[in-house]
Formats: sequence, C-alpha cells, structure tokens
Amino acid sequence: MNPSATEPPPYPRLFEAILLARHSVRAYAPDELDRNTIHALLNAAVHAPTAMHEEPWAFVVVQNKPLLKQLSDLAKPFFIERLHHSPQAGSHAIDRFADPAFNLFYDAGTLILICAKLSGPFVEADCWMAAENLMLSAVAAGLGTCVIGSSIEALNTRIAKEKLDIPAEFKVVAAMIVGVPRGETAVTDRKAPFVLAWK
Ligand SMILES: Cc1cc2nc3c(=O)[nH]c(=O)nc-3n(C[C@H](O)[C@H](O)[C@H](O)COP(=O)(O)O)c2cc1C
Repeated sequence: MNPSATEPPPYPRLFEAILLARHSVRAYAPDELDRNTIHALLNAAVHAPTAMHEEPWAFVVVQNKPLLKQLSDLAKPFFIERLHHSPQAGSHAIDRFADPAFNLFYDAGTLILICAKLSGPFVEADCWMAAENLMLSAVAAGLGTCVIGSSIEALNTRIAKEKLDIPAEFKVVAAMIVGVPRGETAVTDRKAPFVLAWK
C-alpha cells in the first residue's frame, strides 16, 4: 500500500495500536515461552534510555513453576504487612493475599526481574524504562504482561536472592510476569492528561 499525503505513515499507527493495547494480564494460557521470545523481550528492554549510558540492568528469568510458587508464598506475608500499614488497603485486599491458593504471579509461567547493578541516582528509572520497553514489545509479540510490584520487597531479601542466584550487590527493581493471555481482558481507561502548568 502506498501511503498517500493525507494518510499518516503506518509506523506511528502501529505504535499507537500497541501502546493502547497494553494492559495488565492476570490470566495466562499454559504455553511456555521459548528462549528466543524471551531474548527478544530482553533485547527490547536494553534499548531503553539510560542515564549517563550506565546500562545498570541485569535480568533474571524464572520459569520454574515450583520456584515461582515458593517466591509467591515468600512474598505474600511481606505485602500483607505493607497493606496493614496502608490506609487505602481494604480488608478484602488483605484477605485475597492471605488466601493460600492465591498466587502473586497469577500462575504465569515466566517472571522477569530487572535488577540494577549500580547505585547511581537514576538506576531505578533506567530499569523501569527498560520494563516498559519490554512490556510494549510483549504486546507487539501477542503476549501479556503484568508488573508485580507486590513481590519486589520480598525478592530483595537474602533468602530470595540466594534462591535466584542474585549477587548481594544487585537489587531487584522491577518484576513482571509474561505469557500468552488466557481470554480477553478489557483495556483500562485513563483520565485525560492533567496539565499543571504550561507557561
Ligand atoms: C509499579 C507497579 C506495581 C504493580 N504491582 C502490581 C501487583 O503487584 N499486582 C498486580 O496484579 N498488578 C500490579 N500492577 C499493575 C497495575 O495494577 C495496573 O497497571 C493498573 O491497574 C492499570 O491497569 P493496566 O496496566 O491494565 O492499564 C502494578 C503496576 C505498577 C506500575
């Protein structure tokens, strides 16, 4: 197809479609993600902007289901403790996390952690930017993702880092599950941008 002068070029349209299609997926088909697919996601992640070109990120991929369950069981009490101190958290949220059947990773087959190896002022920003690249790339590949922030505190404990072979000098910054979505999930809406000032 030849783009006409009145038609926008195809790339921005494709990008907008991917951007608007991204949403958190919390139900996954049992399909395993292969190594090539995961390498493609990691490759997308490392193309994120990075302060002072530090590229502080390092990745951990967890596809071992019993280990994912162990990590979920380890993380839930940490997050319940957080919820107890959060004025916004209702008792239903606490009950959900306390349910032994609830898996913090929604039974997804793949968890990707983005760790930072340096302690510069922007390493966390770098890792979260890499996370967004990864998630948008997953949408382009027909995959679903969900950030699991509730796991991060526990993943930084000595016991979790030992289980995951994460050296002490690294910290887990971002945690995302990835997989083939099971069923459809509605995209959530957003408020219009609130412009505080425009001078
Ligand atoms: C920093 C961060 C932490 C999050 N942690 C969790 C989590 O622990 N569990 C979960 O189900 N969703 C988590 N989410 C997903 C949000 O709930 C979700 O992005 C939000 O409801 C908007 O929905 P959408 O992603 O479908 O647009 C997290 C998102 C972010 C950005």
